[in-house]
Amino acid sequence: MNATINLEKKHFPVLLDELVSIISPLYGGTFIDCTFGQGGYSKKILENKKNNIIALDRDKDVHKYSSSLKIKYKDRFKFYNIKFSQLEKIKFKNNNLKAIIFDLGYSISQIKNSQKGLSFLDKGKLNMKMGINQFSAHDVISNMDENNLTKVFKIFGEERYSKKISREIVKKREDNIIKTEDLVKIIDSVKKYQKSKIHNSTKVFQALRILVNKEISELINALIISFNLIPVGGIIAVITFHSIEDKIVKFFFKHYSEERNSSRYIPEAESSEKYFKLTHKKPILPSSSEIIKNPPSRSAKLRYGIKINQNCNFNDFRDKFKYLTDVEELI
Ligand SMILES: C[S@@+](CC[C@H](N)C(=O)[O-])C[C@H]1O[C@@H](n2cnc3c(N)ncnc32)[C@H](O)[C@@H]1O
Repeated sequence: MNATINLEKKHFPVLLDELVSIISPLYGGTFIDCTFGQGGYSKKILENKKNNIIALDRDKDVHKYSSSLKIKYKDRFKFYNIKFSQLEKIKFKNNNLKAIIFDLGYSISQIKNSQKGLSFLDKGKLNMKMGINQFSAHDVISNMDENNLTKVFKIFGEERYSKKISREIVKKREDNIIKTEDLVKIIDSVKKYQKSKIHNSTKVFQALRILVNKEISELINALIISFNLIPVGGIIAVITFHSIEDKIVKFFFKHYSEERNSSRYIPEAESSEKYFKLTHKKPILPSSSEIIKNPPSRSAKLRYGIKINQNCNFNDFRDKFKYLTDVEELI
């Protein structure tokens, strides 16, 4: 789900105090906010005059928030409308980089923007593009074949009724364009006897959002780029909202913080290397008072690692999640 939604429509950056205590902005330095949104984290970090922020967001609509920070903080704040997998495009000077942070998912203003069609409560043409996309949910639902639709719903949505839903979509699209409300009706008709605590459309919509925004390859590429960018001693911190994201982030930190043999020619005891130090083995979760104030924060998980070594080869990370990135390539 989402980092900043809440029932009162007010913006609450999720796990803000916990994040700030990890990245220690009190000592000064440069921080990269990879998911600027409404700027909740950036604002907090900029309160200290010794800090600089490099912020990115793929959604150009966040300009209204980024331009007010630019006016207030001038050269201490830079904003780029790019995807976080394009982080390498930014030219970094000697900038005392301390931490790179990710708050994945969607902001309240994106969900409320019915033109983006991120919610199953919206009406009209399917979209789901967060910004800088190659195709929309309308393209997927109108063109993807039944088998591939089934794979997308099953793997990205863990939807039990993937096959039946895909079959119905392919049947219905022969006569009519499937709009958001039609997709919801199709899913309801397939799942009419299913009793569930979540809305019938939640899983299919999650799957489509992941595909349209290529969220898996975005995350994997950005984590690797971040590792290469951050100096030893720097921190990478990630807040996730669904189990697929968390599986990827957990593996990244855990796998590369375990002892590994750097060379098959050197005895293990002399050559084992770790790339991250983890001070928390378990994810950091929102407190019960935060969940009461902002209920959707209940699915948030914060994981982070401190880089302790250079030049890691991430082939096994990419291999481990190839079954997911392959699904993103189906269209
Ligand atoms: C949950 S919001 C972040 C909220 C922010 N922490 C705050 O306090 O306002 C996530 C933001 O990340 C952006 N985003 C998601 N995926 C991205 C990507 N691959 N590259 C750049 N921005 C991305 C979204 O457009 C959205 O604005």
